[in-house]
Amino acid sequence: MTKTVYIKTVGCQMNVLDSEMVIADLKRHGYQVVDTPREADLLLYNTCSIREQAEEKTYSALGKLRDTKANNPDKKIGVLGCMAQKDQEVIFRRAPFVDMIVGPGQLHSLPEMISKVDAGEGRQMAVSMGRKDGKQSLVARSHETFDPLRDPAMRPTPFQAYLRIQIGCDKFCTYCVVPNTRGPEQGRAPSEIISEARILAKQGCLEITLLGQTVNSYRHRSDEGETDLAALLEQLHEIDGIRRLKFVTSYPKDMSRRLLETVRDLPKCSPYLHVPAQSGSDEVLKRMKRGYTVAEYMEMFERIEDVIPNAAVSSDFIVGFCGETDEDFQKSVALVERCRFKNSFIFQYSVRGGTKAAERLEDDVPREVKAARNHELLEVQNRVSKEHHLKMIGSTVEVLVEGPSKKSKNADPDAPAVQMTGRTHCDRIVVFDGNRRQAGQVLDVHIDEVTSNTLIGRVRQVEVVSIGL
Ligand code: 5AD
Ligand code: SF4
Repeated sequence: MTKTVYIKTVGCQMNVLDSEMVIADLKRHGYQVVDTPREADLLLYNTCSIREQAEEKTYSALGKLRDTKANNPDKKIGVLGCMAQKDQEVIFRRAPFVDMIVGPGQLHSLPEMISKVDAGEGRQMAVSMGRKDGKQSLVARSHETFDPLRDPAMRPTPFQAYLRIQIGCDKFCTYCVVPNTRGPEQGRAPSEIISEARILAKQGCLEITLLGQTVNSYRHRSDEGETDLAALLEQLHEIDGIRRLKFVTSYPKDMSRRLLETVRDLPKCSPYLHVPAQSGSDEVLKRMKRGYTVAEYMEMFERIEDVIPNAAVSSDFIVGFCGETDEDFQKSVALVERCRFKNSFIFQYSVRGGTKAAERLEDDVPREVKAARNHELLEVQNRVSKEHHLKMIGSTVEVLVEGPSKKSKNADPDAPAVQMTGRTHCDRIVVFDGNRRQAGQVLDVHIDEVTSNTLIGRVRQVEVVSIGL
């Protein structure tokens, strides 16, 4: 009999990809995906630990399952992802009805764990080794990547895919839990990456986004020599069918001229770079242990402007980090004004157990101050984003159409005209009135109106050239 699985994914693109992989694996084991926990025999929560709020939301979602499990003891519940790795048995303590805890480096063992639970062997946990639990090579192996198959049905859209090229992180920024939850930095072998990209292209995928925590630090050494991101992009560029290549997230110190020139020279590479600055103050950057000064970030930024003048650059900022004064914060505002990022993701600092900042620095910026700084920086960024967009009114952009926009998701499925959404080559969101058949097409859209996050336009008439048969 077919079993059913429900999966809820929160967090970053890595988690979206992990969920796709888990589902592909479970489908091979006879599972079918359903949309609600009610219909499911197996309930999976793929979790995020980056900020406390994300964790609390998951614990509260789990809390709601207490009665569900009491009334349906045969339903199995699994907690996957970063919280599983970080909290481990704490999850069993806070939610004793959970059957399985599986860290991001152990997702391949899920089917076996389900069998054990089914066989009455009790609850199961599979997590990777801690960073200090043994030899570096053993720790790394215990965080191995799980990218066995692809399941187009589980992607946000069938013509876009994430492709992991690197796992883990070795930068150890003092606020960040990722080096603990996802383990040591490891570049995947280029041959594996290329063959996965070929499969994606065969499945009709037009856009591939390469994923890594510090994706531009990617390196893989073998007997044939060393491959870096620039060399990898050159190889991926050769694959027929793929039209766009993006990569996230970049680390400022590793944004080499050679990489930028490669992005400039390969037409399939999007002129879009996500390079988080995190702060505009040297003192704060030092306490964050980011490894660069504001002047060095600016040097990197000017290198981007020099090599790819039309590049769209986006950033992340943390506001209210330990010891951040008003003056420090104003330096972040100034950096947004100077760099004029396409957009920025702004986060309020959240203490994470197991990080250096949690051990050594005081979380001394009051909650209200964090919230006010978040609001102020977002306003500045929104103004800058809108100014970029205003300049695009009257221009025509090339849009990869993703599907109906949020606004029209619930529209009558038979309605011919719906609002569609897609992205430009440099990652700007575009909406226009169109039809569902346009999903997966690359269309020229004329921009009429803008907001700070969206371009609003209409499809340019396609010129039909008669060849007079
Ligand atoms: N508190 C707030 N934001 C954080 N980020 C990472 N760790 C924390 C934390 N402890 C942010 C950084 C990173 C993004 C993915 O999340 O800006 O770039
Ligand atoms: Fe976290 Fe810093 Fe690594 Fe990014 S580079 S994942 S912020 S430790």
